Amino acid sequence: RGLEKFVDELPDMPRLRGYGVAEGGALVAGNLTIGMYDTTWKFHRDLPATRVFAYGASRETATVPGPTIEAMRGVPTHVMWVNHLPPRHFLPWDPTLTTAAAPGTRGVPTVVHLHGGVQHSTSDGHSLAWFTAGLAATGPRFSPPPYAYPNRQPPGNLWYHDHAMGLTRVNILAGLMGAYRVASPDEEAPLNLPSGEAFDRNLVLFDRDFRADGALFMNRTGNNPDVHPQWQPEYFGAAVVVNGKAWPYLRVRRRRYRFRILNASNARFFRLRLSAGLRFVHVGSDSVYLARPVATDTFLVAPSEIADVVVDFAGSTADAVVLSDDAPAPYPGDPGDKAETVAVMKFLIEDAAEPDTSAVPAALMPHYPRPDAREAATTRRITMYEYQKNGTDEPTHLYLNARSYMDPVTETPREGTSELWDVINLTDDNHPLHVHLALFAVLEQRSLRRVDEFRECMRGRNNARACGIDRHLAGGRRHVVPRQERGWKNVFKVRPSAVTRILVRFKPLSSGAASPEDSRFPFDVTTGPGYVYHCHILDHEDNEMMRPMKIVR
Ligand code: C2O
Ligand code: CU
Repeated sequence: RGLEKFVDELPDMPRLRGYGVAEGGALVAGNLTIGMYDTTWKFHRDLPATRVFAYGASRETATVPGPTIEAMRGVPTHVMWVNHLPPRHFLPWDPTLTTAAAPGTRGVPTVVHLHGGVQHSTSDGHSLAWFTAGLAATGPRFSPPPYAYPNRQPPGNLWYHDHAMGLTRVNILAGLMGAYRVASPDEEAPLNLPSGEAFDRNLVLFDRDFRADGALFMNRTGNNPDVHPQWQPEYFGAAVVVNGKAWPYLRVRRRRYRFRILNASNARFFRLRLSAGLRFVHVGSDSVYLARPVATDTFLVAPSEIADVVVDFAGSTADAVVLSDDAPAPYPGDPGDKAETVAVMKFLIEDAAEPDTSAVPAALMPHYPRPDAREAATTRRITMYEYQKNGTDEPTHLYLNARSYMDPVTETPREGTSELWDVINLTDDNHPLHVHLALFAVLEQRSLRRVDEFRECMRGRNNARACGIDRHLAGGRRHVVPRQERGWKNVFKVRPSAVTRILVRFKPLSSGAASPEDSRFPFDVTTGPGYVYHCHILDHEDNEMMRPMKIVR
């Protein structure tokens, strides 16, 4: 709608320290209070202020995205999450979904999940642990904040966001998300990556549609309104927003920068590229550092994925560099599929020569255990389905393993083990699969042959063996897993009409060669409301593409 690009400067979100410093300098647990506020946010110079729901230490300091929480490895962070939201949501609330609250409940149900965090399930933001303002109404699995984040995990990038059943897509769309870092100076300082507030930045990307009056636009009519009056299978917006500004710019020096890029969109994949001959050097993926850096010209990030990259503007052939995206929406899964290239943001390089003592070392964190399929205690099959009712082609809901979210738990991994999951995608879209608590590694991706026949057989039956999966896999094309995605991750893009094999660890990632591998988490993973795994397209997650997971001992 004709908004001028590159007129707003990229903001840095407020940073909140997730630890305290005792007299004498020792680090102690941090206690934060973060509220969810009904407020406004300026997304663009020429747009009136937009009504949002935003996280902040106070109403005045609430931002979209919310403040960046800086935690320290091994030092707990406690967050008192407080819901200050009004009686009604300003975005559509479809009562025909399995929603958090019965229609007529006053207040906006919310619950916060720390994505990539290793925490007890009472602090994990279970989607049925929601609460409204003043705790006037609470979900069936509610446990009261503060939530405890032990931060006993390797350094890396996490994010926090709303996770209320059936409302995640509208609560995040309204603004409820923010970045979270776990730092470990002893391990990270020797790497000498670009550091400090100016040169190490979080970039939180999402797409939005705005009306001329500044309001967030979300279609209020479902694609299959006889079944779901409001639910749409994917939300896409025409504006690309980075750190809360549509198509911002950032002045940079001729030197290296580190960008921790999070895709916080509901459904949009971004395939990013830089102009002026610049490349990305990946140092981390999701919440974990890579063993070694990987350079790419372009890469794909699905909703909820994080790419941690270094860019060296000293190599630029121009004074202005554009970060752009050419991923189709919805994203089908063939890297060859391209859409029109659209700008994301611009970097303006200041001319002065700049001393740069940072580097990208040849080895980052090479000591993490390598995925080894032979250690798998069991193999599971997780099949993704999309259903149509009403004789139309329009989807009405998506299931994992032909089960709804509320069906009894079927995934009961044993703590201390690893499992192979063969994720069979029988839909036409790519679904970013996310597992809470665990990390996983992608072992391979293979296309199914004669997938229509296989899908027909699987419908209602969900028995891959009986439907001849081996026959359908024989001779199927193997897809290369990008090198920067071969480490330990918590999200992966599950390609359509293919089987993606992942090795999921239900034990902590050990910190180094010196420390023996821990098979137990530092808290009781078997108690509380439990964990979940789901598709991270928020519109899918809200419409049944999520399943409970119960860890046993
Ligand atoms: Cu980022 Cu269960 O979510
Ligand atoms: Cu999905």
